[in-house]
Amino acid sequence: MAAINVVSWLLILGLFSHCSATNIRLNTDYRLDNILILVQNENFASVDNMKALKGYLAYVSHQMARATEAVGRRISINTVRLLVPPSKIAELKNAGVFPSMPATWESEVSADVVLENPGGKVKTIPADECYGPNKWIKMPEYTVRRNATANSFLRELSIYLWGLLSESVSGVQFYQDGSGTFQPSVCSSNMPGQYRLRNSISSGADSSSICLSELVRLENFSLAKMQEICEFTPKPSPTGNNWGSILSQPVSLFCDSKSFNNDTRVHHSSQVPNPFNRACGGLSAGEVLRKHLHFLPTTPGASVQETQPTVLLVEKSAFRDVVLVLDVSGSMSGDRIKNEIRSATIYVKYFLETGARLSIVSFSATARELQTLLKVTDDSVREQLAKKIQSLAAGGSTNISGAIYEAMSILGATAPYTKSQTGFVVLITDGEHNTGPNLTVAIEQAAKTSIVFDTISISRYADERMARLANLTNGRSTFVSENTPANVELEVSFADLVKRSVGGGENAVLLQTSAITLPTTSGSVSVGDTDILYFMISLPGTTLSTVNFTATSPTGTVYGRFSPDPGVYQIDTAVNTIVIKIPPHEVVPGTWNWWLTGASTSGRRKRSAEELLLIRRARSTSSGSLIVIGGTGSANSTVLLDTWLRVSSFPQVNQFSVQKIYAYVTNNSAPLTGAILEAMVAPSSGSPFTVQLKDDGLGADLTANDGIYVALVLPEKMTSQGDYGVTVTMTSPVSRTSTAGKFRVENVAAAPVTLPPGRITDLAVESSVKHQYVRVRFTSPGNQAYEGVPAAYEIRASNSFDQLTANFSSCALVGRITGQPAGWPLQFDLRPENLTAIRINVTFFLSAVAVSTTGVSGEPSFPMGGVLTYPAIQAGGEEVVQTEPPPIRTDESDKTDAPEQQESQWTPELIAGVAVTAVVNVAEFVAIVLVAVKF
Ligand SMILES: *[C@@H]1O[C@H](CO)[C@@H](O)[C@H](O)[C@H]1NC(C)=O
Ligand SMILES: *[C@@H]1O[C@H](CO)[C@@H](O)[C@H](O)[C@H]1NC(C)=O
Ligand SMILES: *[C@@H]1O[C@H](CO)[C@@H](O)[C@H](O)[C@H]1NC(C)=O
Ligand SMILES: *[C@@H]1O[C@H](CO)[C@@H](O)[C@H](O)[C@H]1NC(C)=O
Ligand SMILES: *[C@@H]1O[C@H](CO)[C@@H](O)[C@H](O)[C@H]1NC(C)=O
Ligand SMILES: *[C@@H]1O[C@H](CO)[C@@H](O)[C@H](O)[C@H]1NC(C)=O
Repeated sequence: MAAINVVSWLLILGLFSHCSATNIRLNTDYRLDNILILVQNENFASVDNMKALKGYLAYVSHQMARATEAVGRRISINTVRLLVPPSKIAELKNAGVFPSMPATWESEVSADVVLENPGGKVKTIPADECYGPNKWIKMPEYTVRRNATANSFLRELSIYLWGLLSESVSGVQFYQDGSGTFQPSVCSSNMPGQYRLRNSISSGADSSSICLSELVRLENFSLAKMQEICEFTPKPSPTGNNWGSILSQPVSLFCDSKSFNNDTRVHHSSQVPNPFNRACGGLSAGEVLRKHLHFLPTTPGASVQETQPTVLLVEKSAFRDVVLVLDVSGSMSGDRIKNEIRSATIYVKYFLETGARLSIVSFSATARELQTLLKVTDDSVREQLAKKIQSLAAGGSTNISGAIYEAMSILGATAPYTKSQTGFVVLITDGEHNTGPNLTVAIEQAAKTSIVFDTISISRYADERMARLANLTNGRSTFVSENTPANVELEVSFADLVKRSVGGGENAVLLQTSAITLPTTSGSVSVGDTDILYFMISLPGTTLSTVNFTATSPTGTVYGRFSPDPGVYQIDTAVNTIVIKIPPHEVVPGTWNWWLTGASTSGRRKRSAEELLLIRRARSTSSGSLIVIGGTGSANSTVLLDTWLRVSSFPQVNQFSVQKIYAYVTNNSAPLTGAILEAMVAPSSGSPFTVQLKDDGLGADLTANDGIYVALVLPEKMTSQGDYGVTVTMTSPVSRTSTAGKFRVENVAAAPVTLPPGRITDLAVESSVKHQYVRVRFTSPGNQAYEGVPAAYEIRASNSFDQLTANFSSCALVGRITGQPAGWPLQFDLRPENLTAIRINVTFFLSAVAVSTTGVSGEPSFPMGGVLTYPAIQAGGEEVVQTEPPPIRTDESDKTDAPEQQESQWTPELIAGVAVTAVVNVAEFVAIVLVAVKF
């Protein structure tokens, strides 16, 4: 079936290791460990409610075991960790409801389930990864007091963990099949069940004719209308069990592929245009589960009778113990150590949260404790810590394991290592471990503790075991290229580590970073509602006293060297930075401008050739970078950017090696739409490149306007082995920067791997008698997947559905249009003379593909059906019939030749795949007829 392979390059990704932030593991009893639930609201975290939550989880676990039995393995819940507001811990501990344990990796940002108040429905964010895991489940608090809501939670868990995405079509549980008949979107159209009027459900009244599929062939009946008034309930199977698909209820039989079940009533319909089919390439839920690691026959273990899950209360201590471990080996000499010192200084002076205790270790051939754990209480302590860092010099070999053992011992972790040993380590290195104890063993020892290791690799030679160390200890590994223009990715990484470990709250965040090359002079940044606003400019190689650095508020207030308040303008010669600290009460949201005057190493305003040379030869001595630090102190000031990567490593570059970069943007916890985001991908060898993140529902982004922005990195970009660091920058409506992490590429293919164009997912057809056309509309996919400009699109037609889907290129070519960039809305009118190959009065189908510049075609779109027919009717002569339109763009060029029937008439509920009318004009006759098409 043609539809199956379309997005297989995306679904295969699920089999690789991923970066989404869950620590959930399946243990050898087939029970899930480490589900982390965050209770945000202090008022809700009462003893009573938390007891209810415990009972609820027991119920959910039991339901899950019953539901998963249909796939042949009872999976249930073993341990759940509960993160509550610190103010409630004492009360909950005293009540003795849960065993408690110190927090380790558990933080707000690593939660699997977030209980929200007030919250809407239980929902998974983003619900777009086949095989899962997705990012979070958000659920309203009250649900945990009602076992009746367990099914919705179970359904979201199955989306979250395994990627069993929605089978409804645009939120509607019906779709129209090729004959125009409404069918339930669950399973196949033969699924037995009851169609009932919604308003008769509560009264127990039986089905009414209107909802029966045969009768719902009303020409203008929309899916929205259907949803509004009708509901479908699958009938229990002959054995009294439920048939179904996703795990919204215990099912005894999955709607499955033909090879697993001969009963046509329970075949999965891969034709339903729903998110599940789109993301999973037409596979059934049963097939997806059977391929998931949790259900593979090779996963060792034995199903045991589930018992009540253990709920552990996680005690987040009031402060963190952090050991900053800095590489000072010989290879760090020069710019590397300067960058390390600068960013580590900025980390301790501006990013590290007040109240944390910090220790500093440097290492080359041996590891040295420069600073014992010291509590950060005020700026003088920060200065004291910064001074320790500034004294570092490079030289010697690289003993990473020695540094690991040293950091552990500072945190009180000595052999025998146990899970009760906790703390945080941030480890920066540029090289391979080459002296000292066995590193692999040291990593294994570290993994026996609960210490979290975040690692930052800063050169292509950095030991690749750093990713493993971070992974095994629930930390994060990042890679910072030395070739990026801003050269401040280290600072961004440091800021993000704090943000991720501390969660929301009072910590400073980077609003924006940008590169400046002297004597460039100005820029701007959009600032949201924030408590802290610092502008920091780093100017290596410049005498800071010769520079004027100035910031201007949206209301015109100027801050700089001559500000009356001496605290505003601070020069830090040790790390070549100038900081403008805007007084907190004067921070105004809006566009702030900054500029630099008199800033040039040579004092010249114009760039001479000599200067350019100087800039190229030694960038770090003649260019600088700007950092704007903002805070998110108050609950109402929160435009937050969270970013992550789908895949952490590509063992081999092939047509499946597609990286997805995600960003989730919220404003006061609500998804923020319309933001402008770009990711910079910096490989360890080669030049950085950028990709745009989009929330347009096309290509890799499954749902438009949900605040989740996605970009693809194509395999053709993975041309060198090594680490690739990814930093995402949002420039509108406010500025934010965040590192999405890193991925590793091994075994690069000799020839670049290219992908075919993506599939057209929104083919829509309308026809007009008056204007004599069958108008085809769709959105351009890309030259490769959903990127770039394809050479052309081909529209082909056939009277045979099977021919069109199985052998597209053999069908009659009815149209060819020149390629436009991915995302471009296209429109093409087929005239009667184009359709001469189509037999009249017999159903025909249309489908479209994009053709790449190298002549490769994408998968054909879902076909549209129609009938060319002789005249019959239509006194008025004008009739427009249409199916789902492509997303509406406000594009001038599109408007100029827009048809008379307007966007407002378009009914987005109508779905691709609906039979449409076709028109024929052979001079003497013109017809338009609504048709029934069977396929
Ligand atoms: C991270 O750890 C998990 C669980 O141990 C493993 O499945 C995954 O492959 C690891 N990823 C990497 C990049 O090592
Ligand atoms: C939910 O189910 C669990 C397990 O069956 C039970 O212990 C608990 O009391 C139930 N909670 C409610 C509110 O009915
Ligand atoms: C389906 O039917 C075929 C032919 O009758 C049979 O060989 C096959 O085993 C059946 N498959 C299942 C899953 O029952
Ligand atoms: C380090 O330890 C690992 C695991 O025990 C072992 O496989 C490896 O050979 C050791 N490496 C060296 C250099 O001894
Ligand atoms: C900095 O600004 C002051 C006041 O506007 C001005 O007097 C001074 O010359 C400027 N210095 C440079 C290097 O531009
Ligand atoms: C944010 O909160 C502060 C204090 O809680 C309040 O004064 C301010 O008006 C709020 N700002 C917005 C935009 O709601």
